[in-house]
Amino acid sequence: MRTLKFMEAEAFTHRRNLLPLLARKLKAKSYLEIGVKGGKTFLPIRVRKKYAVDPNFTIKAAYKKSQIWKYPFNMFAKYFPCTSDEFFEKHCEHTIKKSTLDLAFIDGLHTYEQTYKDIENTLPLLKSSGVILVHDCSPKSAAAACPANSIDEVKKNPPPGFDGLWSGDVWKIIPRLTKEHPELDVFVIDHDSGLGIISKSNLFDDEHTPKFDQLDYSIDDIDGWDYDHMDKNRKNIIKTVNPEYLKTYCLLFN
Ligand SMILES: C[S@@+](CC[C@H](N)C(=O)[O-])C[C@H]1O[C@@H](n2cnc3c(N)ncnc32)[C@H](O)[C@@H]1O
Repeated sequence: MRTLKFMEAEAFTHRRNLLPLLARKLKAKSYLEIGVKGGKTFLPIRVRKKYAVDPNFTIKAAYKKSQIWKYPFNMFAKYFPCTSDEFFEKHCEHTIKKSTLDLAFIDGLHTYEQTYKDIENTLPLLKSSGVILVHDCSPKSAAAACPANSIDEVKKNPPPGFDGLWSGDVWKIIPRLTKEHPELDVFVIDHDSGLGIISKSNLFDDEHTPKFDQLDYSIDDIDGWDYDHMDKNRKNIIKTVNPEYLKTYCLLFN
C-alpha cells in the first residue's frame, strides 16, 4: 500500500511529471529553465517558446534530435550557454518581455543566494497567472543540505551520510520569500527533494489554502539557521504540503 502511494506521488509530483502537467494546465506558451544539464526535463516539455540557461550544457545530439522528432517546436528552443546572472544581465531583455512568462523552473547553482537572485530576476518576467518551480527546497538530510558552491566541492570533502544527492541551502529561499514577498503564494511539495511552487495568485481555494504557523524571524536569522533548526520546524519554515493535498485541492488541477 505504501509503495503504491509512493508511486502515485511520484507520477504526479516528480519534476519531470509535474512540469509538463503544469505546462498543459496553464496552457503555457513560454518556459524558462535555469540549470538544464542534459535537457531531460527541458526537452520533453511541450511549450512553443522555450529558453534554456546553463554554463555547462550536457545535452547529447542524438537525444536532442529524438526530442525534435517527438515535438518539432524544440527546433526553435533558445539555448544560452552562460550563468543565470549573465543571462539576466545581457540576454534577457532581448529575449523575454516583462509579464509574459507562463512557467519557469529554477535548478541552477544550488546556493541560497544564487537561487534567491534567480527568483528575483524571474519574477518581473512572470505573468500574473504564471508559476515558478524551484528544485531542492526540502533536503532529506543534513548531508544533502550542506552549503557549498558546487556539488564537486561537496564530493571533494563529503559530509557524513552524503549519498550523492545535493540540495544545498536552497531551502532558505522559502522563509526569505515569505518574509520579503507576502504578495506571493509559496509552498513546497515534500517530494523529489522538495519542489517549491511560487505564484502570484493563490493556487488553492480559500477553504483549502494550506495553513502554517506564522513565525517571527528576521532575514539575518535565516542566515544563521542550520539544517537541524529547519528540520525541527520543517512544515512551518519551508511550508511543506503533501503531494496528495496538491492533487486534491489545487485549483490548477481541478
Ligand atoms: C541539477 S542540474 C540541472 C538538472 C535539470 N534541471 C534536470 O531537471 O534535468 C544543475 C545545472 O545547473 C547548472 N548551473 C550551475 N551553475 C549555474 C549558474 N550560475 N547558472 C545557471 N546554471 C548553472 C549546472 O551546469 C548544471 O547543469
